[in-house]
Amino acid sequence: MENLKNYIDGEWVGSSGGGRFKTLNPATGEVIGDAPVSTHDDIDRAVAAAREAYKKWRLVPAPKRGEIIFRAAEALLKDKQRLGELVTAEMGKILPEGLGDVQEAIDMAYYMAGEGRRLSGETIPSELPEKDCKSVRVPVGTFALITPWNFPTAIPSWKILPALVAGNTAVFKPSRYTPICGTEIVRKLVEAGLPKGVLNLIHGPGGEVGEYLATHEGIDGVSFTGSSAVGARLAHMCSAPGKGISCEMGGKNAIIIMEDADLGLAVEGAIWGGFGTTGQRCTAASRVIVHKNVHDKFLEKFMAAAKKLRIGNGLKPDIDMGPLVSLEQLSKVEGYINAGLTEGATLALGGMRCSGGELGHGYFFEPTIFTGVKPDMRIAREEIFGPVVSVIKANDIADAIEIANSVEYGLVASIYTNNIRYSALAERDLETGIVYVNASTIGAEIQLPFGGEKKSGFGGKEAGGRGGALDMFTRWKVIYRDYSGRLQKAQIND
Ligand code: UN1
Repeated sequence: MENLKNYIDGEWVGSSGGGRFKTLNPATGEVIGDAPVSTHDDIDRAVAAAREAYKKWRLVPAPKRGEIIFRAAEALLKDKQRLGELVTAEMGKILPEGLGDVQEAIDMAYYMAGEGRRLSGETIPSELPEKDCKSVRVPVGTFALITPWNFPTAIPSWKILPALVAGNTAVFKPSRYTPICGTEIVRKLVEAGLPKGVLNLIHGPGGEVGEYLATHEGIDGVSFTGSSAVGARLAHMCSAPGKGISCEMGGKNAIIIMEDADLGLAVEGAIWGGFGTTGQRCTAASRVIVHKNVHDKFLEKFMAAAKKLRIGNGLKPDIDMGPLVSLEQLSKVEGYINAGLTEGATLALGGMRCSGGELGHGYFFEPTIFTGVKPDMRIAREEIFGPVVSVIKANDIADAIEIANSVEYGLVASIYTNNIRYSALAERDLETGIVYVNASTIGAEIQLPFGGEKKSGFGGKEAGGRGGALDMFTRWKVIYRDYSGRLQKAQIND
């Protein structure tokens, strides 16, 4: 049982209001920790501490900032097994995925540590003599970092580490469902030598605490990952000039399976994309669009594979799928089962909460497949965030791509084919931030930008590579230095 605290200005402290909330294991219902409900006063102090710390942190040489992150990477790696188990215990994904979550944070930590020595800009020739021109990356200021429960160590690392290496300070609010995992990341950075005030942690529910933090006048930028509804709300509330906000939100990702695809491979990809992490990834494959010539054959194999999935506590060996994170999530999934049935889809598999024996203590839900789904049904358009896959029939490649693009989201899409033309058309025409060929919709790597189009995200992408998180956490400053000792007029002097 962990009695968690906030971390403000280098001190582990309780909430000034004294309120607490519980965090529990969704596979067993057991309470595993509690955390403070932060008050406005706590948040004010955290923001003030971060603003004060910014004055010095921005001047610490970037390679030195990177060294602290490198030490945190080493500490995470050393503690990977325990942390992976903690991820599984706190949000339910099976242990191999819990370990993968931590590995993604480790990857990000090593990568961003290296960025400390790579934060390069440009030098460009001047049109005038004895004058030089350069552009440099500068930090933005103090960030509010608000993260979800589905990747409780990886997603915090995507935000905290690039923000800090670039010279920003931050107030971090992890999801109320995963305060222990959020705390662990902060502990590792503190142990690695992060100066006080640079990173502050406040706990609490998203609505109250998250909104007060994001809209705080002392916050210069907000990075949020979560639902599209909350993201849109925050974006609206943070629309003051000068405050940047980036939101990474939902998905309604499709796998297209063409008539020439390796069906065995496609089935494995659809199972992993649809039921991995119990469907609770923003990259989950909640739609499978299958060419009419192979639809029935695919479906038969897909159903057979889904029936074999072993459901249970993800800390136990040989389990394929853990519980949903909460009762709220479970009710949402049940609502979509009713919506699918009402709109005339065929419930081909699953559709029920698992009630018997041990499973009855947790938020387990059966792997669920709907067939005969039409692209305009709610189950084909709205993000469910559960183990529910809609199978949709397509006539040809153009039809498949059109269906894939017909939703408001645009995070990830995938195509299974061995036809070069199909692959090229999919790469060109799928309106998503990420396209996979002969691979499932999940499995993004941290050295490339991560983010989507349309309702899936805006305001800058995450992770590494060109166009990744450093663009969100820095501004470009242009410097002209004239060492001629005379007035030189650009565009006018010869
Ligand atoms: C998310 O679901 O919010 O590609 C992130 C993936 C992971 C990241 C998922 N590397 O599924």
